[in-house]
Amino acid sequence: MSMRIPFLKKKQKNEKQDKIENVPKHVAIIMDGNGRWAEKKGLPRVAGHKEGVHVVNKIVRAASNANIEVLTLFAFSTENWKRPKSEVDFLMKLPKEFLHVYLPEIMENNVKINTIGDIEELPKHAKNAFEYAMEKTKNNDGMILNFALNYGGRFEILQAIKHLVNDMETSKISSEALDEKIFSRYLYTNDFRDPDLLIRTSGEKRLSNFLLWQCAYTELWFTDVLWPDFDEQVFHEALNEYRQRQRRYGGL
Ligand code: FPP
Repeated sequence: MSMRIPFLKKKQKNEKQDKIENVPKHVAIIMDGNGRWAEKKGLPRVAGHKEGVHVVNKIVRAASNANIEVLTLFAFSTENWKRPKSEVDFLMKLPKEFLHVYLPEIMENNVKINTIGDIEELPKHAKNAFEYAMEKTKNNDGMILNFALNYGGRFEILQAIKHLVNDMETSKISSEALDEKIFSRYLYTNDFRDPDLLIRTSGEKRLSNFLLWQCAYTELWFTDVLWPDFDEQVFHEALNEYRQRQRRYGGL
C-alpha cells in the first residue's frame, strides 16, 4: 500500500491567520537567557541553546502569521567567540539542525532566509547550511527571516565607513551627497527598514552591540522571560504593547 504524502501548499503573501492592526513591520530580537535557563534546571548550558532552537521556529511562525515583514534574530555576536570552544562549537551546529528540522515549514510559510554579519568566518558547515537555505528560499516573498551571525554593530559601522571611504576615493560618491539614507546602504541591513520593535529576553536591558545605527528610533521591549520559555503569548504581549506606543521620532 502506498502512503499518500500530503501536498504542502505554500502560503501566499497576505494569506495569514492572524489579522493584527498596527503590527511592527520589522521586529528584532535579542534571544537571551539560554544558559541561565539550563543552569536553573541543573542542565549543561548548551541544553538551553538546544531548547532555544525550537523557540526560534515558534516565533518565526507567529511573526509570519502576524504579517511582520522582517524578523531579525541575534543568533551569534562577534563577542560570542570568547565563550568556551565547546559551547561555540555547539552553537555552530544549531543552524544545520534548525534548518534540517524546520526548512520545510519555512518553505510552506513562504519565508525568505537572509543573514547579516560576517558569515565568512563561520565554520564551513554552518555557512553552507545558511547558503543552502538562502538559495532554497530566495523566491519566497513572505516574511524575511534575518539571522544575525558573527554580527557586531560597531564592526558593521566600521566596515561601512571603510567601503564608503573607498567609494569616495574612487569618486563613486561625494561627501556633499552623503546622507543617512546613503550611509544605511553600506550596512548589512542595506535596504531593510530599521526595526520598529526590539525585544530582549531574560531581564537584561542593553543593546549589546546589536543594530546600533538601525535602532536609533526603535521601540524597546524587555521581558524577564528566558528565551527557552519565550512563546507566542509573550511575543503577542510585546506586539500589543507596541500598538499602544506613540512614535514621535523627536517630533511632537
Ligand atoms: C544568549 O543566551 C543566546 C545565544 C548566545 C545564542 C542564541 C541562539 C539560539 C537561541 C539558537 C539559534 C538558532 C539558530 C537557528 C541559529 P546566553 O547563552 O547568553 O544565556 P545566559 O545569558 O543565560 O548565559
